[in-house]
Amino acid sequence: MNEAALQQALTDTQNLGEMPDADAVGTVGSPDCGDMVRMWIKYKEKDGRKVIDKASFQSFGCQTAIAVASIATELIRGKTKDEALAMSAEELSKPLGALPPMKIHCGQMVEGALRAALESESREKTAAETDTLRSPDQSGTLADALNLAGKTQGRIKIVLTS
Ligand code: FES
Repeated sequence: MNEAALQQALTDTQNLGEMPDADAVGTVGSPDCGDMVRMWIKYKEKDGRKVIDKASFQSFGCQTAIAVASIATELIRGKTKDEALAMSAEELSKPLGALPPMKIHCGQMVEGALRAALESESREKTAAETDTLRSPDQSGTLADALNLAGKTQGRIKIVLTS
């Protein structure tokens, strides 16, 4: 891993924070370390295609996860859902160089959060065009999600990466 690139990504972290008007949100936890990432996505129409306008994230994760999430939110801008779904953890973390074995799950967690967000949007839209993405249990902070996940059988879906 390129330490200088990691430090640069952390110094210049992009798109950190909730996105209240997001079209989709996904949360993933890693069984390897207990860290979590939540990602929000907003779409727009461009040249007759629905593309990702912007993305943001919150992380209870290590520096590598934060750096990869920051990079990922920039890399997916302008891509369609299918193009973003096709991106691997390796591609999302490429600017950092090859991740060491102990850190591979960090990139995979970001990929998982991205997939969860992309797939939650399509699931919600095909279900009923309802506004459930903004229901209280999906609009809170990552800390809220952790609390909910621990205390209730709410609508939060936490996907564990392998
Ligand atoms: S050590 Fe868990 S996400 Fe990096």
